[in-house]
Amino acid sequence: MNKIKAVITGVGSYIPKYILTNDELSTMVDTNDEWIMTRIGIKERRILKPEEGLGSSYLGSKAVLNLLEKTNTKPEEIDLLICATVTPDHVFPATANIICDKVGIKNAFSFDVNAGCSGFLFALSVGSKFIETGKCKKVIVLGAEVMSSIVDYTDRSVSPIFGDGSGAVLLEPTTGENGIIDELLEVDGVGRHYLHQKAGGSVKPASHATVDAREHFIYQEGQPVFKWAVSKMADVSDEIMKRNNITADQLAFLVPHQANLRIIDATARRMGLEKEKVMINIQKYGNTTSATLPLCLSDWESQLKKGDYLILSTFGAGFTWGAILLKWGYDSK
Ligand code: UT7
Repeated sequence: MNKIKAVITGVGSYIPKYILTNDELSTMVDTNDEWIMTRIGIKERRILKPEEGLGSSYLGSKAVLNLLEKTNTKPEEIDLLICATVTPDHVFPATANIICDKVGIKNAFSFDVNAGCSGFLFALSVGSKFIETGKCKKVIVLGAEVMSSIVDYTDRSVSPIFGDGSGAVLLEPTTGENGIIDELLEVDGVGRHYLHQKAGGSVKPASHATVDAREHFIYQEGQPVFKWAVSKMADVSDEIMKRNNITADQLAFLVPHQANLRIIDATARRMGLEKEKVMINIQKYGNTTSATLPLCLSDWESQLKKGDYLILSTFGAGFTWGAILLKWGYDSK
């Protein structure tokens, strides 16, 4: 009998309504549209306004409801839900648990995965194992982020980059051709020094001093992160192609993490891919961390065909990086 594989059978997404443009950002901090477009490639990003009192579970539950509706799936059919996020509603319990409660998923277990911007990719790998072992029949994997809750809008080196959003996929078993074929997941903890949140964890709990020092926001040293990202994302994407004997011609799309257009371009060049085969929506959402990959899949869903080869590829805080090769599971209706 053929081995059981996990195949993506649906995609859902949700983005908040408020659009923060480069022009508006330029009134908040010393920056401009030309710098942001040239150095990063972002025109605008979506923001969940803090006064709404809503968190990542709000965005995540909207994406999951969209997914359940599109795939005609009842909440009680779901066996497992994994939420990738670096901006959980609370330190605990897991945002995944809250999403399950909000959408009526009762017969499942759920947990969060934090692997920085590689969160969705790593969660997809974990979810696929529960399918491949036969333990679960329907698994939801999502990325949900309110990055604006940890962005310092007085810091011009970080504030243009990030945005809020959520995307979710449904995984089901198949013994056919399609589904997740191969994965390469890597980490080097030395990277924690260059991209992290200084306070609010067990090493440095929240205090008046940490708030005064603005240590509850993203701290990033852009250049070392950039150098690592360019080389590692290109390395894994190229390696997963080569070891599966997939040529640039055979690949339908690269689905890259959306951190910087220059990083995406470098990865595509290394793979020998023309621009038409690269999913790029960074200009309208910015870097939504764990949500970038499913938001790409959602935006391109109507163009994807059953049997298309896709490579999903990421780099993020940790450092974490990786790539997944899969064959798309369905023609969109
Ligand atoms: O998803 C997680 C992984 N994260 C990433 O992949 C991010 C990787 N890093 C990057 O994308 C880039 O390093 C940044 C976009 C963060 C920064 O771009 P850069 O080309 O590395 O710029 P830089 O930090 O070297 O700064 C160049 C200049 C500096 O001015 P001087 O010293 O040359 O006079 C900065 O002060 O640009 C200045 N600058 C800005 N100017 C206008 C920095 N931020 C801004 C800004 N607007 N927002």
